[in-house]
Amino acid sequence: MDLNDFHDEHYLRLLFDLQVDETTFAGGRNLTSVKEHIRWLYSTIVDSNPNKRLLDLGCGIGHYTREFAKLGYEAIGVDISPLCIDYAKSISPSNLDCHYLCADFTGHELPRNNGTIIYSNSTFNLLPREIARKLLERVYEALAPAGIFYIEVLHPHQILEDSVNVKAHPFHNLGFGFNRPVIVLSDKMENIASQTIYERQFWINKETYEVTTNDVIVYCYSSEEYTTLLANVGFRNVTQWPGKPPKLSDLEFGPYTIFTGTK
Ligand SMILES: C[S@@+](CC[C@H](N)C(=O)[O-])C[C@H]1O[C@@H](n2cnc3c(N)ncnc32)[C@H](O)[C@@H]1O
Repeated sequence: MDLNDFHDEHYLRLLFDLQVDETTFAGGRNLTSVKEHIRWLYSTIVDSNPNKRLLDLGCGIGHYTREFAKLGYEAIGVDISPLCIDYAKSISPSNLDCHYLCADFTGHELPRNNGTIIYSNSTFNLLPREIARKLLERVYEALAPAGIFYIEVLHPHQILEDSVNVKAHPFHNLGFGFNRPVIVLSDKMENIASQTIYERQFWINKETYEVTTNDVIVYCYSSEEYTTLLANVGFRNVTQWPGKPPKLSDLEFGPYTIFTGTK
């Protein structure tokens, strides 16, 4: 299986399981944290455009899409995973202006002039570079005038700056898979030549010793590259937000990195 193969059923099942499990922070979304995060986004990076429309690229199970809808946005979430989209639809209150589309956003036409915000959380740097670059051009075209694009980098510390190194982190009821009877070993290799982080996780069930694995490739950019990528397609006011929502997580997962650009 190719890594990050969003057409692979096994990989999609794994991503879905992680997202719906509120006890993990492995892409897992604890609703309290999501709400704090959105409150922080909203109060820190103000959207001054009165025409509130949101397109959430790679919306997963739609926690962020829904929270934006609750803030008065007409929100559309797009995700390639039918599991995620079906689940997002099933938990979305019918009184919210919140819609979901199961599609590959790299091929599907993005609604034009239809976003005052286009939001991509923890998705952009899972995409191979060339695809990510083309996506930026399409995002720019799709945005309404004065619209804002947000990229949230998948994990903190994935701004490439180090030489090649390998780390193994044993977690015991902590971090990945906490509240589950598992120990997770994470073997992380930063590759300067390809500017990627290759992370292999081994989930060891403490009772049965069964091992499951989860491999992911993250495409890394430096801060300057993010800024240049956004500026090159025409975004103005390109800004890096190094902060994190206060008390986002008890796990102190690290500072979030967000880039924004205005059309
Ligand atoms: C790490 S999850 C993030 C989910 C959500 N944004 C969040 O922060 O909770 C990445 C999501 O991107 C979706 N995705 C990746 N490539 C995609 C593509 N080409 N088209 C649509 N969705 C995609 C995956 O299915 C997955 O749900």
